[in-house]
Amino acid sequence: MNSSAKPAAGWLELENKVCVVTGAASGIGAEIAREFAKVGGHVAILDRDEKGARAVAAAIAETGARAIAVACDITDKASVDKAAETVERELGRCDVLVNNAAAIYADALMNIDLAKWNQLMAVNVGGFLLCSQAFGRQMIAGGGGSMVHIASISGRVPQPYSGPYSVSKAGVKMLSQLLAVELGEHGIRSNVVSPAMVRTPMSEVIYQNPEVLKKREQIVPARRISGPRDIAEVVVYLASPRSGYVSGQDVLVDGGLSTAWLTLIPRPGFEKQDAQ
Ligand SMILES: NC(=O)c1ccc[n+]([C@@H]2O[C@H](COP(=O)([O-])OP(=O)(O)OC[C@H]3O[C@@H](n4cnc5c(N)ncnc54)[C@H](O)[C@@H]3O)[C@@H](O)[C@H]2O)c1
Repeated sequence: MNSSAKPAAGWLELENKVCVVTGAASGIGAEIAREFAKVGGHVAILDRDEKGARAVAAAIAETGARAIAVACDITDKASVDKAAETVERELGRCDVLVNNAAAIYADALMNIDLAKWNQLMAVNVGGFLLCSQAFGRQMIAGGGGSMVHIASISGRVPQPYSGPYSVSKAGVKMLSQLLAVELGEHGIRSNVVSPAMVRTPMSEVIYQNPEVLKKREQIVPARRISGPRDIAEVVVYLASPRSGYVSGQDVLVDGGLSTAWLTLIPRPGFEKQDAQ
């Protein structure tokens, strides 16, 4: 599809909606914030990296859209509650929450230190809960809203030697489903977007190695690594009333990776053929 064939921004009905994105100083979160701004949303950029959040907000504001940066550590209830107050005061009640801020580190299960495990779970799951509570209250008061939580393919299949990352992302999926069930009667939907391989500051070190990049591209049916835009466009759709009857779902954005693993099995006589 060429860009002129893109649906008009109004189709999404997100104009003047207050859209809160956590971890929006960088990578996928920053792109989600930019996408909301493009379709007329008023965007709150929450991040513990205040300087980065300000830079993203300033760049959005330059396009004429409404954006504010809010310093927030999602693991700290007081900080999240204060951020929610700031958003309500500056932009109005939250209509859309995207729980995106997360962390990862490498470790084998047998070597994991419990304090480090708890610290990561406090960001990747506890932080999602705290933001869902603080902004969910505003949605309840406003008569509805949409929550989108960024999990990962690693929440569906184990990603070894990554500390508690897979466990945390599986937790995000269940948290989202619980929110869908408990908050549905308030007109609130809750869904997950699960990326696979995305080129962002979190993963860039991996892609600096050309051999790794090539190997990764080869195993994806789409033959490319996704970018933040691939994720952000799905998030915006799930945030909008265009997906108004979708709740409790997990949308995998993986270029077909998860469906392709049988191609890894050598099968003499069934090799790839060129299209005729
Ligand atoms: N990059 C990938 O390949 C990939 C794949 C699957 C899922 N994801 C998920 O996508 C989301 C975004 O990842 P990314 O690659 O853009 O990461 P990133 O590291 O570029 O950005 C994460 C942002 O979260 C912020 N953050 C971290 N801890 C925080 C806290 N306690 N409070 C507030 N802000 C905090 C960071 O400051 C940073 O700006 C994450 O949930 C990640 O798990 C990423």
